[in-house]
Amino acid sequence: MTNKYRQSFKIVEKRELCKDTFFYEIEAPYLAAKMEAGQFVIIKPNKYAERIPLSICGWDAGRGTINLIVMTVGRTSGEINAMEMGECFSDIVGPLGKRSHVGKFPGVCVVIGGGYGTGAIVPTARDLKKLGNKVYGIVGARTKDLLIMVDELKEACDDVLVTTNDGSVGIEGFVTHALQQIIDNGEKVLYVLAIGPVPMMKAVTEMTRPFGIQTWVSLNAIMVDGTGMCGACRVTVDKKTKFACFDGPDFDGHKVDFDELTKRQRMFVTKEKEALEAISQ
Ligand SMILES: Cc1cc2nc3c(=O)[nH]c(=O)nc-3n(C[C@H](O)[C@H](O)[C@H](O)COP(=O)(O)OP(=O)(O)OC[C@H]3O[C@@H](n4cnc5c(N)ncnc54)[C@H](O)[C@@H]3O)c2cc1C
Ligand code: FES
Repeated sequence: MTNKYRQSFKIVEKRELCKDTFFYEIEAPYLAAKMEAGQFVIIKPNKYAERIPLSICGWDAGRGTINLIVMTVGRTSGEINAMEMGECFSDIVGPLGKRSHVGKFPGVCVVIGGGYGTGAIVPTARDLKKLGNKVYGIVGARTKDLLIMVDELKEACDDVLVTTNDGSVGIEGFVTHALQQIIDNGEKVLYVLAIGPVPMMKAVTEMTRPFGIQTWVSLNAIMVDGTGMCGACRVTVDKKTKFACFDGPDFDGHKVDFDELTKRQRMFVTKEKEALEAISQ
C-alpha cells in the first residue's frame, strides 16, 4: 500500500557525476507534486541513520520522482552513496524551506554554483527563464574532473561560463572572475543567486555589494528537524536571528553573518570524526 505516510522512496536512477558525488532519481510522487525551486528535503537513508538535508536539483511530477545530488563528506552522506539502484530510503521529509526569490528583471540574472550547489541552481534558473529573463549560469570547480551539471545548466540558461582554479577548462580562477567578465561585457546584472561552499558565497556577495546587485545565497546551516522547531539552524541575517530551514534556505547575502555560520558549521567536528571511525571499524 502506498500513501503519503507510507512511501517506498526507491532509487530508480543513480549515476556518478564526479569522485564521491552521485546523482539520484527517487520515487516520491507526493513530494514531486509539491516541489518548488530552492526547496530541500531531509533524508534518513536507513532506520539507524541520522537525517540530513539535501537540496532538490529537479523533479518530474508526471513520473512522480525527485532528483538529488549527494557528495560524500561524512557518515550519512557516505551511507547514501553506498546505496544502489532499486534500494529504498527509510524516510524523506519535504518539501522544506521557501521557494527561491524570483521575478522579472529589467536586466540579466546570474546563477552561480559550486560543488553540490550546482544542482540546486538549476530549478531556479528554469524559473527565471520561464519568467522571461536573460539568464547566465556560472559553474566553478577546482579542476575539470570535478565540474558537474554543466549540460543541465546549459539547457536552463542562455549561456554558461565555466571556471576552474587550475585552468584545466574554461576561465582560470574563481566564479567571481566569470561574474566580473559578464559585468565587463556591459551586461546589466540585477540578480545573482550563489549556492556552494560558504567561502564562495561570501566572495560573491563581497563582489556584488559595491554594485548594489540583489544577491541571494542558500545557507547550508546544520539542521535537525527542518521545520523551525529545534533552533539548530539558527543564522544571523540583518542582525536578526533566522532559521535557515524555515525562513530560508535563501537569504539576502549582503545581510548574512558568514563568520558565525562558519563557526556553527564546525560545532560537531569531533563527533563527526567519531561517527566516521565507528562505521569504518
Ligand atoms: C539546506 C541544505 C541543503 C543541502 N544540500 C545538499 C545537497 O544537495 N547535496 C549534498 O551533498 N549536501 C547538501 N547539504 C549538506 C549536507 O546536509 C551535509 O553534507 C550532510 O548533512 C553531512 O552529513 P554526514 O553525516 O555525511 O557528515 P558529517 O560528518 O556529520 O558532517 C560533515 C559536515 O557536514 C555538515 N553537516 C553535518 N550534519 C549536518 C546537518 N544535519 N545539516 C546540515 N549540515 C550538516 C557540517 O558542516 C559538517 O561539518 C545541504 C545542507 C543544507 C542545510
Ligand atoms: S533545523 Fe530545527 S529550526 Fe531549523
